[in-house]
Amino acid sequence: MARKIIIDTDPGQDDAVAILLALASPEEIDVAGIVAVAGNVGLAQNAKNALKVVELSGRRDVAVYAGCARPMMRELITAEHVHGHTGLDGPDLPEPKLRLETIHGVDFIIDTIRREPEKTVTLCALGPLTNLAMALIKAPDITERIEEIVLMGGAYFEVGNITPAAEFNIYVDPEAARTVFACGAPITMMPLDVTHQMLGTPERVAAFSAVGNRSGAAVAAMLGFSERFDLKKYGWPGAPLHDPCVIAYLLKPEIFKGRVCNVEIETASPLTRGMTVADYWHVTDRPRNASFIRSGDADAFYALLTERIARLP
Ligand code: RIB
Ligand code: CA
Repeated sequence: MARKIIIDTDPGQDDAVAILLALASPEEIDVAGIVAVAGNVGLAQNAKNALKVVELSGRRDVAVYAGCARPMMRELITAEHVHGHTGLDGPDLPEPKLRLETIHGVDFIIDTIRREPEKTVTLCALGPLTNLAMALIKAPDITERIEEIVLMGGAYFEVGNITPAAEFNIYVDPEAARTVFACGAPITMMPLDVTHQMLGTPERVAAFSAVGNRSGAAVAAMLGFSERFDLKKYGWPGAPLHDPCVIAYLLKPEIFKGRVCNVEIETASPLTRGMTVADYWHVTDRPRNASFIRSGDADAFYALLTERIARLP
């Protein structure tokens, strides 16, 4: 039985690869819908990018919804400096023919979780947590019905990427992150600690081109664009690939290792806003609310990605 998921996303090249990985794996993953959130770029462009990726995948059966246009309490901060003006610079993907659904993405999340049997819907969050938090606030009854929240966000041993203390997804909407991490649903987080091990070296990026289909070529073009910022910043042999870790975890959890611990979100301090404070060594008696994934097998990760992208058009 395929696992039913909702993908909440701000595409973003790495989001796009995560979406393609999920859509290439229908035997294991049933994507109930994709909800766009403001993050890497503005909501409208992120939603359009999600439509483009669904069309690229050939999975025109998957619906796309628009969620929240800005964080719960703060002004939106975007990341065009990493992802380009469109948020999906790199490949020249055609204007989407698919249209957005009319209901709000937050209502789609609520309705789906209420409709489906308890503990059968997993929320996969690849951007700021605004939509998930708003769904939990608007419909607290869904909390115990959620099977699991698997999210890309945060950092602890690896420290931040948008500030010295914070990772981008959490930094953009720290109040939303606090709401999600305090909700009580099972949470598995993919922080920079593990995504910074998943480096897209030239060989690994070339393997996508070598697949020979349009999806592989698009993935190589996406990573070839978004890697520029990180290669310059970190000087590593490849750029980290963040969001596909969420979907890879659903497909092959054995690739990843971590431990359950307490994770709290800083929302008050301007200096450390959005920091995920992980009590990894259990030095407090704070509730152990998240599985903090600290490491992963990069070769297995990229082998999975390449093999699944090859299944697409
Ligand atoms: O910090 C990395 C995260 O921020 C990824 O989800 C990337 O897409 C950006 O949204
Ligand atoms: Ca993202």
